[in-house]
Amino acid sequence: MTNGASKMWSGRFREPLDSTFEKWQRSFPFDVRLIYQEIAASKAHARTIAAAGILTPDELEKTLAGLDRVIKAVFEEAYKLVNNDMLRDAYASTSTPADYAWLSPLNDVARLNPQAEDIHHFVELELTKLIGSLALKLHTGRSRNEQIATDMRLFVRDSIDASVKALREWSLALFEVAERAGENVIPSFTHLQRAEPVLVAHWLLAYVSMIERDISRLSDARKRMNLCPLGSGAVAGATLALDRNIAARALGFDAPTPNSMDATSDRDFMLDFTQALATLGIHISRFAEELTLYSTAEFGFLDLPEAFSTGSSAMPQKKNPDFTELIRGKSARLVGAATTLSVLMKGLPLAYNKDLQEGQEAVFDAADTAAGILTILPAFTRSLKFRFDRMKTAATTGYLNAMAAATYLSNKGVPFRKAHEIVGDAVRLGLESGRELNDLKLEELRTLSDAFAEDFFEAITLEATLDCHDVIGGTARTRVGEALAAAKARLGDNI
Ligand code: ARG
Repeated sequence: MTNGASKMWSGRFREPLDSTFEKWQRSFPFDVRLIYQEIAASKAHARTIAAAGILTPDELEKTLAGLDRVIKAVFEEAYKLVNNDMLRDAYASTSTPADYAWLSPLNDVARLNPQAEDIHHFVELELTKLIGSLALKLHTGRSRNEQIATDMRLFVRDSIDASVKALREWSLALFEVAERAGENVIPSFTHLQRAEPVLVAHWLLAYVSMIERDISRLSDARKRMNLCPLGSGAVAGATLALDRNIAARALGFDAPTPNSMDATSDRDFMLDFTQALATLGIHISRFAEELTLYSTAEFGFLDLPEAFSTGSSAMPQKKNPDFTELIRGKSARLVGAATTLSVLMKGLPLAYNKDLQEGQEAVFDAADTAAGILTILPAFTRSLKFRFDRMKTAATTGYLNAMAAATYLSNKGVPFRKAHEIVGDAVRLGLESGRELNDLKLEELRTLSDAFAEDFFEAITLEATLDCHDVIGGTARTRVGEALAAAKARLGDNI
C-alpha cells in the first residue's frame, strides 16, 4: 500500500512512514487544544479565498457552517467521553473559554483519532466528513506553516488577556489587605536581617508594583504580536492574490504581518509571553517565600489559612504551607518554559522548521500553570491572618530606629558619617545593658554627643521612625496613604 491518502502531503511518497516514527511525531495529542483557534483562522481564510473568487458565496456559507459543526462534533464526542457538566457548558459556549481545565477530555478525542497528524489535518478530515470534497478547497492559498503561527498567536493573545485579568484580581486583593492593615507595621529586612519598620501596607504595595510591571510586560507583548500571519504561505507568501486584510480584520488583528519568512517562523510572541510569565513566576515565588518564612514559629507573623494548608501524616502538630511551597515550585515551570523557547529558537535558520512544533507544549504548560496559580492567589491573599502584635514587637525591638536616631543627629548638624558612628556607640551601650535606644538616659547619650537633647526620644518613636521616610515611595504614613490612593485610582473600575 502506498502511504495513506489521508496524509496532507502523501503525493510524492511511495513508502509508508515507519509506524513508530509516525506516532511519535504527531502533534495532535497536544495541539488539539487549538481547536477554537484553528476553526476561527480557517473561517477567516475561507472569507479571504471567497473574496478572491475561489469559493462561491454558497460554498463559503457551507464551509463556514461546516467548520462550526466540526467544533460541535468534537465537543459532542468529548462530552460523551466524560459526561461532565462543565464540559457541556463549555461546548455550549461559542467563544474560547479562559479556563482550560475542561479541555483535557479533548486529549481523549485526539487519542481516538489516530489518523490526524495535527490539528490542521484533523479539522480538514472532519470537515471532509461533513461537507465532502468542498472541504479540500479550503487549503487553497494557505500552508500549515502560517496556520500554526496564526493559531499560536490567537492562543497567546487569549492567554495574555486572561493573565492580565487575573493579575488585576490579585492586585485588588493585595490592595484590600493593604488598606485593611491600617497603621500596622512589619520589620523590613535587608540581608534577611531586620532593617527598619515599614507599614504592612507599604510591604504589600511592593507586590502591587511588581504586578503592575507584569501587566505592562504582557500588554506590551500583546500589542507587538497582534499581526496576522495568514497569507504568508509556506514561506514566500500566498500564491494567490489574496486580500490579507480580510483575515486580519476577522480575527481581530491590527494588520497582516509584513514579511512572510519572518511570519511563518517567528515565535517571538511565545518567547515574550513565556518570559513575561517567568518574571511573574519569580515575583509570585518571592511572595510565596516570604509568606512561608513568616508563617514559621520563628517569625510568627501570620497564621496560615487552614483552607490552604495541610497537616503532616507523621507529625500531628504540623500545619504545612503547601500552597506557598507549591507555587514557589511551580514558578520553576514558568522559568523552564521561557528557557525551552529560548533554546529552541536560537539556532533556527529561516524560515519554518519542524523544531517549532516543540514550542507549543511549553506555552500551554506556562499558560495553565500561571492560570492555576492566579485563580487561587486572590482568595489566599484575602484569607491571610496577620499577627500584627508579633510584627510590631519585631519592628520595635532590635534597634530598628537606629537610622532614625542618626537622622536626628544629622538634623542637629552632625555630619551623617559621624552621626552613624555615635548611634553605633549608643546601640552598643544598649546591647551591653539589655536596653533599646529609647530606654537609654539622656545623660548617657550626652556622654556620646552633646547634640542629644530631650526631643531625641520623640524622634525615635515608631511613628517618627516611619514618618522620617517622607519621600515619594517612602514608608511615611502620609506617603503610604497617597500610594494607596494612587493604587486605588490605577485599579480603577475593579474597585
Ligand atoms: N504541527 C505543525 C507544527 O506545529 C504544523 C506545521 C507543519 N508544517 C510542516 N511544514 N510540516 O509545527
